[in-house]
Amino acid sequence: MTTPSAPVPGPGILDIAPYVGGESKAAGTARPIRLASNESALGPSAKALAAYRALADEIHRYPDGGAAELREAIGRHHGLDPARIVCGAGSDELIGMLLRAYAGADSEVLYSRHGFLMYPIGAQAVGATPIAVPERELTADVDGFLARVTERTRIVFVANPNNPTGTYLPAEEMARLHAGLPRHVVLAIDAAYAEFVNRNDYEPGIALVNRADNVVMLRTFSKIYALAGLRLGWAYCPPAIADVLNRIRGPFNVSAPALAAGVAAIEDVAAVARARAHNDRWLPRLSERLSALGLKLTPSVGNFVLPRFPDDPRHNADAAFEFLQSRGILTRKMAAYGLPQHLRITIGTGEEMEIVAAALAEFMGIA
Ligand SMILES: Cc1ncc(COP(=O)(O)O)c(C=O)c1O
Repeated sequence: MTTPSAPVPGPGILDIAPYVGGESKAAGTARPIRLASNESALGPSAKALAAYRALADEIHRYPDGGAAELREAIGRHHGLDPARIVCGAGSDELIGMLLRAYAGADSEVLYSRHGFLMYPIGAQAVGATPIAVPERELTADVDGFLARVTERTRIVFVANPNNPTGTYLPAEEMARLHAGLPRHVVLAIDAAYAEFVNRNDYEPGIALVNRADNVVMLRTFSKIYALAGLRLGWAYCPPAIADVLNRIRGPFNVSAPALAAGVAAIEDVAAVARARAHNDRWLPRLSERLSALGLKLTPSVGNFVLPRFPDDPRHNADAAFEFLQSRGILTRKMAAYGLPQHLRITIGTGEEMEIVAAALAEFMGIA
């Protein structure tokens, strides 16, 4: 056996196309309109900001590694047992922990074809094989998932609602997916956008976690709570899975300012209601404005829309992206998600929505 002349990473690592986040800068504008990362339009709760600032004099101290106060606050708010909650530095970290714990070389991880990119990236990082399951009308396909389960399947990731498509699976469909999975396969329901959903047949995953040993629900403070920069998420788990995640997580994986801001944010019910009302107002308005321009929209239940642009090079998604960027408006290109004709646009402030709708009308030659 020849000895390598340089350090060699684990299997699959060099096949990973690194995650590219949304743009945050546009040439010629000091304050671009940032609609590329599904951050909240209204910003964080004033109470969360105050709690964050109050921590400034204490940052020489380690945080509470067990996140007890935050888990209790989450438990009170959602009616959950805090012992079954595990906190992470964003739900990204929890996705990685689930993969490290339950997947690995020779295993398969299923995700929806246009699902969140950290599922395949995280799977490759632990040497597992990500399997993209085709969608139906940009929606996760339960039968497609079930048809691709093999004896090597370890985790099925479903973002519900899904980013970037904005579509969702009703509770009954999610229960049907769960019922069809072998009991040793983890069903990870990523409900990052749950708080924005306004549908009677939607359930974020709590009910399923309560009655199954193999379902985990992931949540984040990055979206409606508007704390993306602090990195804070949580998982609601069966007791045995919470135990496993607690064994492998870093001892102080969530920072003290994040813990403090998280407690204040989850208790500020009025701030969440405002953010939700704002989305309820602008999601349909922006959708209607873009549809009226002839752009095709799949109905979204999140805080973003995904218009499909025409194929002609003057009006396609790349041209629209450039045009908007030249106006200081940042949106997200979707080629990495297999949707090169689409752009994802986050619901921003009312003023930002007026500006983006007017700019796209001009781009489409309708203004
Ligand atoms: C479906 C989904 N899951 C997880 C995340 C990551 O969230 P966090 O900021 O908590 O890591 C995102 C962020 O865009 C997302 O869209």
